Amino acid sequence: MKKKKRMFIAGNWKMNPQSLEAAKEVFRQIKKSAAKLKNTDVVICPPTLYLSELKKIAKDDFALGVQNIHWELSGSHTGEISARMAADVGAHYSIIGHSERRAMGESDEEVSKKIAAAFAEGLVGIVCVGERERDTEGQYLEFLKNQIEHSLAGVSKSQVKRLILAYEPVWAIGRKDNAALGGKELYETVLYIRKVLLGIYGKDIAFGIPVLYGGSATFQNVGDILSEGEVEGLLVGRQSLEPEGFAQLLRIANSL
Ligand code: PGA
Repeated sequence: MKKKKRMFIAGNWKMNPQSLEAAKEVFRQIKKSAAKLKNTDVVICPPTLYLSELKKIAKDDFALGVQNIHWELSGSHTGEISARMAADVGAHYSIIGHSERRAMGESDEEVSKKIAAAFAEGLVGIVCVGERERDTEGQYLEFLKNQIEHSLAGVSKSQVKRLILAYEPVWAIGRKDNAALGGKELYETVLYIRKVLLGIYGKDIAFGIPVLYGGSATFQNVGDILSEGEVEGLLVGRQSLEPEGFAQLLRIANSL
């Protein structure tokens, strides 16, 4: 029998919900659903403002992350937070290079500096990559290769254990569930991504890097994505703000 893969599901709440009370309520429900899972790790990345309060509910048995960090430790960076601050209030993860931040001008070079900052403070980096559109000639694969190589430029072999790669095709984010990439197509892209990682780190290390999928993942499509796509988990946006649907998604992921 094929050994069950341990799944990793991260929720990216983005700039939601609109009050601390609502955040606590959604979080409590998710924590309850996650506690029943034997085979799946769940992480929530709320707006940073809510993190300390959610940490009180999470205690030590539920991991939290931030959605972004600055690469510097301190200084004149209005509106930013450092990896050290995030770790100090209880974050264990940071999303880095999400496409919504890249769309605001974040470059691969900045992503690479942020990864170094996260690792230096003991955070696990959930590093996002993904093409904006898919052309029929496969140029998007070249784009992906470039983005991965440049974003991971500063990550040495010994640091890879702190790295999770989230493949999020930008065109599939924030759409209906039938707009998500199908499991079979995902599988082909994930193979390609692993080839790129292999080129950087060699086989033994490359195959140990968890690769997640993100982009309109819901409880309706999670079965196809996870069983056909050969990924180690998901980065989930909207569905992670809907406790019932998210609980269903987690149950399915856990049962595969
Ligand atoms: P979505 O967002 O699940 O709402 O498409 C995913 C993401 O942007 O990480």
